[in-house]
Amino acid sequence: MKILSIVGARPQFVKLAPIAAALTEAGHEHVIVHTGQHYDAKMSDVFFSDLGIPDPDVHLGVGSSGHGAQTGAMLAGLEPVLQEHAPDWVLVYGDTNSTIAGALCAVKLHLPLAHLEAGLRSFNRRMPEEHNRVLTDHAADLCLAPTEVALGHLRAEGLGERSVVTGDVMTDVCLRVADLVRDRNPELPEGVAPGEYVIATIHRAENTDDPVRLRAVVEGLASLPHPVVLTAHPRLVHKAAEHGIDLTAGSLHTVEPLDYPAMVAAVAGARAVVTDSGGLQKEAFLLRTACTTVRTETEWTETVDLGWNVLALDLTELPSLVDRPAPAPTDATPYGDGTAAAATVATLAAWAGRR
Ligand code: UD1
Repeated sequence: MKILSIVGARPQFVKLAPIAAALTEAGHEHVIVHTGQHYDAKMSDVFFSDLGIPDPDVHLGVGSSGHGAQTGAMLAGLEPVLQEHAPDWVLVYGDTNSTIAGALCAVKLHLPLAHLEAGLRSFNRRMPEEHNRVLTDHAADLCLAPTEVALGHLRAEGLGERSVVTGDVMTDVCLRVADLVRDRNPELPEGVAPGEYVIATIHRAENTDDPVRLRAVVEGLASLPHPVVLTAHPRLVHKAAEHGIDLTAGSLHTVEPLDYPAMVAAVAGARAVVTDSGGLQKEAFLLRTACTTVRTETEWTETVDLGWNVLALDLTELPSLVDRPAPAPTDATPYGDGTAAAATVATLAAWAGRR
């Protein structure tokens, strides 16, 4: 079986790592196409090197621009690549512009399309990720759902017949890397001690694009009564500079984006996580660090139901949410046991040629 993976943004490289390993293990042919949506070394290359992912076979070098221009450039760049390789499956990951571009390209060429991390919903149609994931699920021939909740959403939209729960591949990577970094001290800014700090990330359009909102989020973090290690996505740095918002005020210790092992070590060693990232909400849960999510909804509702994640609907409540009582211990595994990539590859093989 020949699989062609399309990736482009940081969280997709993390998801690709266990899939690439499982495809090699099972002896399948794997072509990796990088759209170039993320291009800074710290947003892209370090994930390939640290997570042992083979270099991309094709790099489109699309880079940043508006949603339409970026997605369109990817679509145009992907078409000849998909035609040349004619894979048994085009595999797209998550919910970024690289995902929707890959999905559109595959369906237009009548190539079988599988969507990994299908069925997630925020039900917030203002999010670019929500359009990307809904449209990709409906284009796909096979929806690979990470959880039963995701499968429920797919069934509700009439997609149950082509959907399979394979578990969450981010669990595979997180648990493997957590084992590797178990004895490693987190890399912290001077004066910040393990166990005492909050690790924070903010990058979503809904938090960064409106300067009033961005200022309120940054001031909320700066006012926390603990050191806040803010790993700053380039989008946050650009928007803060544009609007004169100080990322070093108060409790803030702003650092560059961390590579994946460093991030896992930093989350494991933190007293709390504050984020608007989807992946980090789950990683916090898997590493049993309490998380506060700076959004009005989450796709990863299991983390909230189990008490390990709360939504900060009112930013003035951030200090009390971060210092809330410790969540009840749990051994629940809503995101699987670290074997999702093998299950995904087996499902792709079983469904190949079915349509
Ligand atoms: C994208 C995804 C988002 C995902 C996130 C992970 C979409 C619509 N959004 O958001 O779902 O959670 O990736 O990080 O696809 N930039 C750089 N260097 C880079 C990449 C980006 O400087 O390597 C800057 C550019 O100014 C760019 C901005 O960040 O315009 C936003 O990048 P973009 O890829 O458009 O979206 P993300 O915010 O990263």
